[in-house]
Formats: sequence, C-alpha cells, structure tokens
Amino acid sequence: MSHIYVTHELPGERIAELGQHCDMACWPGPGPLPPETLRAEVAAADGLVCLLTDRIDAALIDAAPRLRFVSSVSVGLDHVDLAAATARGIPVGHTPGVLVDATADTAFALLLAVARRVAEADAWVRGGHWRPENAWSPDFFLGRDLAGATLGLVGLGAIGRAVARRAAAFGMRVVGWNRSPREVPGVEPLSLAAVLAASDFVSVHVALTPETRGLLDAERLAQMRRGAILINTARGGIVDEAALAEALASGRLGGAGLDVYEREPLPADSPMLSAPNTVLAPHIGSATALTRRRMADLAADNALAALRGERMPHCANPEVYG
Ligand code: DGY
Repeated sequence: MSHIYVTHELPGERIAELGQHCDMACWPGPGPLPPETLRAEVAAADGLVCLLTDRIDAALIDAAPRLRFVSSVSVGLDHVDLAAATARGIPVGHTPGVLVDATADTAFALLLAVARRVAEADAWVRGGHWRPENAWSPDFFLGRDLAGATLGLVGLGAIGRAVARRAAAFGMRVVGWNRSPREVPGVEPLSLAAVLAASDFVSVHVALTPETRGLLDAERLAQMRRGAILINTARGGIVDEAALAEALASGRLGGAGLDVYEREPLPADSPMLSAPNTVLAPHIGSATALTRRRMADLAADNALAALRGERMPHCANPEVYG
C-alpha cells in the first residue's frame, strides 16, 4: 500500500477519503512541521500533501527516492522547486480557483483599511485618546475616497479580475497590466509603467516566479504616483520591501496594505513594522473556513488522482504526463 505523508491536519471531507486508499500519516503538531522531520518523513513516502510553509526543494526531492507526487494546499507554488520535481517526473498539484473570492476580499479589506485609516483609528480609540476635547472635527482622521480614484492591477489572473469587479462596485476606474496581454471587461490595459503612474491604489496579483521576483523594485516603486497606496496579497518576494519601507518613510508613497512578506513570519526587525500608514496581516488571504475546506478537498483530490495513476485535476507541471 502506498505511504502518503500529510504535513498538517486538514479540514474538509476528501482527506479522510484519501486515507482509505493509502497508508496515511500526518504531522500531529503542535506547530509547523520542522524541516528535518519533513526530510525524514519523505524518505519513505510515495506521496506528499504539504502546505506553503513546507520548503520542497531539490535536496528534499533527492532525499525522497519513492516520491511519486506532491500535492500542495495552496495555489502559489514558490515553495516547491517545480523544475526539480518535473525532472524526476513528479506531478505537483495545487489549488487554483477556490481561493479567488476570499483573496480578493482580503485585498479589498486592506485597501479600505489603509484608505480610511481603520487600524490607526481602532488603536487610537482603544488607547483612550477619544476624549471630549477631541471628540470630532472636520479634519478628524481624514482618509481617501475610493469613488473616482484609479486602481491599478498588477496581474489580471482570476484574483486580479475579482478585485476589478469589487473596484467597479466602489466606483473606481480600473487599469491593469498582465505579463501576457489580456482583455478584461472594465479594465483598461496599460503597460506596467503606465499602470503605476496612473494609479492612486496599486494591487499586486501575479504569482511569484523567477520572472516576477523583485518586479516592484525601487525603480518601479518610484514610478508610482506620489502618495499612492500599495496593496500586496500575492507574495512578498514580488516587492522590494526595503525600497517600499523607504518610500513609505519618506512619504513618497501614502500607505501600504500587506498580507505577504519577503520573509514570513515577519522578522521583529522588519522596517515594515514601523512604516507609516501601513496595515499588516499575517498571510490570511485565503483564511475563511469554507475556502480552506475547499483548498484541502482539492489537494486531496489531486493526491487521490495521483494515487490512482490518473492525471491530477490541477497539476502545475502537466508536462510530466508527456
Ligand atoms: C496560496 O494558496 O498560495 C495562498 O497564498 C494562501 O493564502
């Protein structure tokens, strides 16, 4: 019987079904699976169901001689060395589609929170500053209007398009750039430089790949409008964080809403922690109960297909099937 290792307990129903078709072991916690335990466990595994926090690099794949598939409970696969998996003929499954709305909601929640200074206002009230002598005034906690403002989308995949639909409902003009040009109703297609120059808010929705790593570097950030707000719910590695921190500290950029970082968890000495007008979330883009169940079910379906010797429904390296 095939031996499958699962790196975290998962919600949903399909994972139990997977367990009926193989000998399944699961990291019981507490906390995330230590990399050395993962390495020891994959050595004897025929299949792996993992999270985005598990680094599946070439060395790990080399240490797993029996491994026949990897199924990640994530849409992003920057934690997996796809080239190394492909070279070994190992299909890598992921979970596109099911987290589109939850992630678009998170992008919009961050955008609204930064535009209307929600986190800052909350801290101010809880800090006991709301007293009769400063109860209200016409210039009290002034924020930004969304209606009439321009939102620039960097990436027009499913999540970028879902953000565009939300922006239209808020009366925003939407412009966008995609690596391979794409017509999207309601989105004016522009070059990346033109999107950055035209937008009051910029939201990032490209996958992290070797081509997009550092895409929004110091030079690109300098192309953004003075006072513009950057939202990133994609991957931290797409934005040069040191350059972003500098642009925020100098006031060139007006704020940021971030769910993802170059290093996660965010290190205690990260300049983002002291950046002004910035709302920080701990990679919660897809964190709704329903979305997480759907992601786990899709990952289990990918694993079940691989176990049966069938094509995974969502495989990121379909070339392994020849
Ligand atoms: C993913 O699945 O890649 C997301 O980042 C999870 O929120």
